[in-house]
Order: sequence, then structure tokens, then C-alpha cells
Amino acid sequence: MKPEKIKGLFESERRDVRVSVSGWVRTRRDSKEFSFLEINDGSCQANLQIIADATLPNYVECVQKLYPGASVCVTGMLRQSQGAKQSLELQAETIQMLGASDPLSYPLGKQRIGFERLRELPHLRVRTNSFAAVARLRSALAFAVHQFFQSRGFVYVHTPIITSSDCEGAGEMFQVTTLNLSEPLPRDGKGVDYRQDFFGARASLTVSGQLEGETYACGLGDIYTFGPTFRAENSNTRRHLSEFWMIEPEMAFADLEDDQQLAEDFLHEMFSAALKRCPDELAFFDKRVLPGVLARLEKLAASPFVRMTYTDAVEQLEKSGHDFEFKPFWGMDLQSEHERFLTEQICNGPVIVTNYPESIKAFYMRRNDDGKTVAAMDVLLPEVGEIIGGSQREERLDVLENVLCEKGLDPARYSDYLDLRRYGTVPHAGFGLGFERLVQICSGMHNIRDVIAYPRAPGLIR
Ligand code: 4AD
Repeated sequence: MKPEKIKGLFESERRDVRVSVSGWVRTRRDSKEFSFLEINDGSCQANLQIIADATLPNYVECVQKLYPGASVCVTGMLRQSQGAKQSLELQAETIQMLGASDPLSYPLGKQRIGFERLRELPHLRVRTNSFAAVARLRSALAFAVHQFFQSRGFVYVHTPIITSSDCEGAGEMFQVTTLNLSEPLPRDGKGVDYRQDFFGARASLTVSGQLEGETYACGLGDIYTFGPTFRAENSNTRRHLSEFWMIEPEMAFADLEDDQQLAEDFLHEMFSAALKRCPDELAFFDKRVLPGVLARLEKLAASPFVRMTYTDAVEQLEKSGHDFEFKPFWGMDLQSEHERFLTEQICNGPVIVTNYPESIKAFYMRRNDDGKTVAAMDVLLPEVGEIIGGSQREERLDVLENVLCEKGLDPARYSDYLDLRRYGTVPHAGFGLGFERLVQICSGMHNIRDVIAYPRAPGLIR
């Protein structure tokens, strides 16, 4: 029979009843007449305290061999605890060890271990308070993402992982091939002959589901994707992963204003959902991971987003007289020091920056009438920087064809995308949000590698 969840026991009023629980031992303390075991089953932040009397028939050969990491099944009477720290305890009647754990080699003993060391133990770190809390927060946020879009009538679309198009046009893609790399590669006049590869063409892992998302929006109206994306950029920072999950809504018959509003509503909803669904996890993060993260989240959930154009943003940065490492000027990509200054010093809250120079943005963004900027937007948050990138898309066939050529991209490779502009084109807009960055902000975890189960980054795969 499935044991009960410890979370359910803490939430219920039931006392002096017989229950069975299973979990992993966190600690054991022995006294003369009994042992205290703290066990955790991953369902909540709290451990359940087990009292194991020395009179139990298997006390010596089982209970006294329960070290941190061992798995157990315990049946007993659930009681209100006398101790100040615990509200509940289980007076054990039977204890069964399911799996032993060697105290000499188990890496998660009593002493605290740094996150960096834990990153080398991706298979065990979920048994720590921090990583279990992150995993539960991540799950609650993923659920909230679906609820937000479903309640607004957006259709969930699964876009392909393997693709032949480079959405961002930046060439930062992982190649997918079955060509034998230890043999000389088949060649034609221009280089590797991908006609002989598995798909008969060069294939890669997707950097974004946007292009396919756009095709679905131009038939279904409002859609969203939520899937893995891959970037082969050599960014060894605490905000970049090579494999991350992206949420990408796309709306037909919508412009940049609509896009900004959706982004603001969506983020407010995500911050509120974290506060509402994970109070214990957030209290833990606030105490142990980043003091102040709870107040930060409460503020974010209630702050209206300031909106300003890129041109205004650069002007304000220039006017500030602040001594930036990179002097701001019109035409530059905003650096994280600029993003932080804008959100923390100038606006004191989240900012949506719009209408960036076309030279620093992707080909699909709609050209503005000024001939210099595109209808792009980035959502920036205090302390953490960019969380969302999006735009109104270029829906005019002739303009898009010209831009592709200007940017050195081959229009023939984007023929499906161009067809959307040939047949019943519509104004449309969307954005992408890196899910791990959202989890990072809500949890206060310093490094993005600690908010995904198996982080992938340059030189890091396990
Ligand atoms: O600004 P990006 O590159 O936009 C796109 O990919 C668009 N196609 C999205 C769209 O309009 N549908 O990425 C969007 C977001 C960023 O704001 C950031 O949150 C996240 O994806 N992101 C990363 N997160 C973790 N690691 C990386 N290497 C990331 N690169 C982008």
C-alpha cells in the first residue's frame, strides 16, 4: 500500500491515528531508551520526527543502523508533539529499512555542503532542503504557466526540437547528425554534403520554438509553447545554460502594446503563484539562500512595469553621469550594468524597454517607420536583468525578404515562414521567457545551474 505523504499529515488535523509513511533518513539521535529519527519524503520542506523505542524488536539490527540517506517505511501512531520545534511526531510501532546507506561514503551527511560541490552530485542533491524546494517551486510555476495561458484561451503547441532553421540567426546551434565523425565527411563543392546525412539536410537542436509557434498562431490565434531550447553559446555565466526551457506565447492580431501587456500580466501572475503555492519553500529560501528574496518577490508581484523606449533609456543612462564600465551610446546592446542601473536607480522596479536599433536585433522583428528601430521589447528586472525578449513580428513580405538578404540569410531556407506573409498575413507578436531565470528570481538562487535538475553548460554534462 502507498504510504501517506508527510505534507498531508502536517496539513491535516488527524491525531492519535495509525499511519504509514516512507522516506529518507536525515538524522538519527540516540538516547538510552529511544532514538529520534528525522525523515523526509520530498513532499514538503518539513521532516517528520519518528520516535523509535529501544523496545522495538528490530531496534539493534535495524533502527541503530539507520544512517543519513537510508530509506525507511514506518508505521505508528501520529501524535501532537510535546517538543517546541515539532508540531507532529510518529511513535513507531514497526520500522522497516528499505535501503541502507553507508555513513562513511554517503556525501550528504550532517555537515552543510556548498552548492558548487552539490553540482557534482546531480543524482543526490535533490535530497537536500535547497534542491527539493527548488524542484517543488519549479513544478508549481510550470503548472501556473499552463493555468495562466489556458485560462486566457491560448492553445499549447509542441514545436520541434530538431530543426533545420536558425530562429535567432545567430548560428549558436548544436548540430544533429548521424554522419560518422571518425571518418572523412562526405563533401560537395561547398563543404560537408548534408544530403548524405540522416535528414538529407543540415539539422540542429532548436534555439527557439518561435518560428513554428508563429505558424500555429497564424491559424489558431493565440498559442504558447513550453519546451526545451538549446544554445551553443560559450557563455559561462550564472545566468546562462546550454539547455533551458522556454515559454513562448504568440498572438495573432496583436501588436507590441498587446505583447507588453501580456508580459506584465504573465510575470505578475507567476510571482503571485510562487507566493501563494510555495510559502514554506520561499520562507526557506529567505532564511537560507537569499535573505530578502521574499520581500523582493512581494514587491515584484505588486509593481507596475515602467515602459520606455530604447532611445529614452540610452538618453537617461547618458544623462545620469554614472561611471559605467561600458559608456552608453545609441546603437549599443545594453549591458547588464545598464540594465541594472535602469531598473534599480532610474525606475526602481521592472522596466520594459522597446524599439531597439534594428542592427542589434533578430531578422523577424517588425521594422518601425523611422527606418532605424524595430518593434522589439525586453523585460528587465532589478538585480537580475533580462527575463523576457520579444517583439511584434514583421508581417510584410517584401520588407521581410529584404531584411533576410541584408542580414545574409538565405530566403529559400525560410520559405515556409515567408508563406505566412504570402497567404493571409496578419500583425502578430510574441515573446520568450527563460523558465530557469524565472525560477532563479523566485528562489533567489545565485546560479542558474542550481534551478534545473541536470544543468548543461560549456564543459558541463553528466
Ligand atoms: O531573447 P531571446 O533569445 O528570444 C528568443 O529566443 C525569441 N525567439 C523569443 C520569442 O520572441 N518567442 O530569449 C528569450 C529569453 C531570454 O529573455 C532569457 O530569459 C532566456 O530566453 N534565455 C536564456 N536562459 C538561460 N540560458 C540561456 N542561454 C538563455 N538565452 C536566453
